Amino acid sequence: MTEISHIQTIAVIGSGQMGAGIAQVAAQSGLQVRLYDLQAPAVDRARDGMARSLAKLEAKARLAAGDDAATVLARVHFTTVFEELADADFAIEAIVENEAIKRELFTKLDALLNPRAILASNTSSIPITRLCAATKRPDRVVGMHFMNPVPVMKLVELIRGLPTSDETFAETTALAERMGKQICVSQDYPGFIVNRVLIPFINEACFAVMEGVATPEDIDNSCKLGLNHPMGPLTLADFIGLDTVLAIMEVLHSGLGDSKYRPCPLLRKYVDAGWLGRKSGRGFYTYS
Ligand code: CAA
Ligand code: NAD
Repeated sequence: MTEISHIQTIAVIGSGQMGAGIAQVAAQSGLQVRLYDLQAPAVDRARDGMARSLAKLEAKARLAAGDDAATVLARVHFTTVFEELADADFAIEAIVENEAIKRELFTKLDALLNPRAILASNTSSIPITRLCAATKRPDRVVGMHFMNPVPVMKLVELIRGLPTSDETFAETTALAERMGKQICVSQDYPGFIVNRVLIPFINEACFAVMEGVATPEDIDNSCKLGLNHPMGPLTLADFIGLDTVLAIMEVLHSGLGDSKYRPCPLLRKYVDAGWLGRKSGRGFYTYS
């Protein structure tokens, strides 16, 4: 294990499914957390979801010794005021998978936070080197890619941008370990490791639906029963969010320049219709 990190307060930007999960796991590991979103309803959903999740963990005696759900929740400050992130030692961005919007956020975080603070991105695919370039502290920017659902999945992929320093990488490793995660290191190429492998697989399942190879149910059951996957690829796509799956596929296509990464037109059509999967109530399946 890397030496204990000095980081005490972290800012999480974006309180959607990933940001809320990252904030929860950080609070469970004893960190003070500032969880920010542009949208007040997203902050409210995160607070409610976290309270429910922590209550279940308390009932199963899975919280750290001396902690109960209320103590952990009290470590999280929920806000829609950007300036309230100013005292963070470390920021993790988990907003929409859009390079221009992330770059703009990194420039704003760079201006607000202490120059020693590390700025990390939970991006699924966008080059970390480009996010480094949006700041005046490129050596203190890093990729810290959690998996969904964050409280359950053990992996964090760490990605170095070209200018990321060894010190930044070591401090980020220590933080991820303190949050109970295991690290795999990826070079800064589109999709890193997990999504380079996973998202073309999901995209191919979308083509199989579009071409009438089989129903979504049969495609998913084939992968569950035949490959022992916990979820079939279309259920997983709905779980990740079809907008996010499409955005990652676009980055693979443009970043690697190979037509084998072209997004499935049916996936694009679903996103155009606002069928984003679980979060919108409809994707390949419907959700109540
Ligand atoms: N938050 C907290 N805990 C959760 C949770 C959540 N959102 N979802 C499930 N859990 C917990 C449950 O409470 C349960 O805990 P216990 O065993 O203590 O009771 C445990 O996880 C299992 O849950 P369930 O019994 O409800 O359901 P399941 O056995 O089907 O597991 C699952 C659910 C863990 C999500 C499982 O289906 C799974 O592993 N699916 C695949 C997930 C996956 O592939 N994630 C990676 C996506 S790719 C990515 O993240 C990268 C990217 O950039 C897109
Ligand atoms: P989500 O749609 O659930 O949440 C995104 C949140 O960001 C929303 O609440 C939105 O209001 C907020 N937001 C958008 N622009 C913002 C801004 N400029 N400032 C503050 N908040 C803003 O998305 P998600 O699934 O949590 O994904 C977030 C990030 O994590 C993306 O980069 C995604 O690629 C990555 N990621 C997603 C998964 C997954 O399975 N969904 C897994 C790993 C990484």
